[in-house]
Amino acid sequence: MARLKDCLNIEDLRQAASRRAHKMVFDYIDGGADDERTLVNNSRAFDRYDLAFKVLTGVDHIDPSITLLGERLDVPFLCSPAAGNRLFHTEGERAVAKAAADVGTIYALSTLSSVSLEEIAELTDGPKWFQLYVWKDRALVKEMLDRARAAGYTALVLTVDFPITGNRERDPRNGFTIPPTYGVRQAIDAVRAPFWTRDFLLGPPIRYANLSGDTPAVSLNQFVAEQLHAGFDWKDAEWLLGEWNGNAVIKGVVRPDDARRAVELGFDAISISNHGGRQLDHSPAPIDALPAIADEIGSDAELILDGGVRRGTDILKALALGARAVSFARPYLYGLAAGGYAGASRALQIMADAVRRDMALMGIRSVSEIDASFVRTR
Ligand code: FNR
Ligand code: LAC
Repeated sequence: MARLKDCLNIEDLRQAASRRAHKMVFDYIDGGADDERTLVNNSRAFDRYDLAFKVLTGVDHIDPSITLLGERLDVPFLCSPAAGNRLFHTEGERAVAKAAADVGTIYALSTLSSVSLEEIAELTDGPKWFQLYVWKDRALVKEMLDRARAAGYTALVLTVDFPITGNRERDPRNGFTIPPTYGVRQAIDAVRAPFWTRDFLLGPPIRYANLSGDTPAVSLNQFVAEQLHAGFDWKDAEWLLGEWNGNAVIKGVVRPDDARRAVELGFDAISISNHGGRQLDHSPAPIDALPAIADEIGSDAELILDGGVRRGTDILKALALGARAVSFARPYLYGLAAGGYAGASRALQIMADAVRRDMALMGIRSVSEIDASFVRTR
């Protein structure tokens, strides 16, 4: 198995994750909807932009810090929410929360985390956001908001591109459920992933820790269909903002008109995202959706680009095109699946180092110096 320190980039961590994790678990992280066109294009779309660097600007001091919703971050990226991290490695969300705090950034915890929001809140002093999926039961939604507020989460992230689950064909092919159930195929794959299997068998059972009671073993589609409120609309979003009454991010917007409506409703930040290509295939890459939304919104809200980011240059392209920050999930999830805390940390450190290096090579000393003049569309 490749050692973490030999992983030089996110793709190396992806390969290491594919070797360590059970196949169905790796595919759940790695896969996307339908033909995975959007999944692939989210990253590939960055190739259509070139970086026109400046010279002789004196880059001996580089400051990659930013302010996002009033919070100072040491790096211009944050960790997107992702469900059920203990499936990927027993250290789960605890590992990611620590790794995020180490690099001085925000960890956005998923509603569907496998460790409770209270435990994650207590684990580090790092800034944390809470991502919400909307349950049919409004009392449960209110209870979650109260708990997140009480635990010190500084912003609510409302994910709006998940009214139902996208068609991820790798999952049913692998017989994937949360928690996993085993047939012959899964058992054979388990033998091929001995470290993951040992940890999984020895660790406590996996559940959605923010929900009371036991989470039954069902497919994600079935769970979401039963529990989440597909009828949730703009009126409900307005109700939710009133209940939360704090900083709020809307996650999963690709159209300028939706972005405008969200700002008018009171959202403070917009995460331009297609859920990492896991929902509607053939939705536009966030980097391609960004310029029109930046034009529409100007400084009325803060923009976060989410999806496909794998290199420091991807981050700088997004900042140049008008994003205040980027976020990503798979980079740290590959790291986590490859090696727990050490792997998640390695992923974030790779990204942090890359941003600094690429800023220097672009002739940029601080993030405030980045503007559209640095990007050329090919
Ligand atoms: C996700 N994503 C996600 N988003 C969300 O709002 N709540 C969630 O619980 C999850 N769960 C989840 C699980 C896994 C395994 C993945 C890969 C993704 C989407 C995530 O926050 C983000 O939008 C995309 O992953 C961004 O694309 P990249 O960075 O993975 O390319
Ligand atoms: C996913 C959900 C849980 O993308 O957000 O798998």
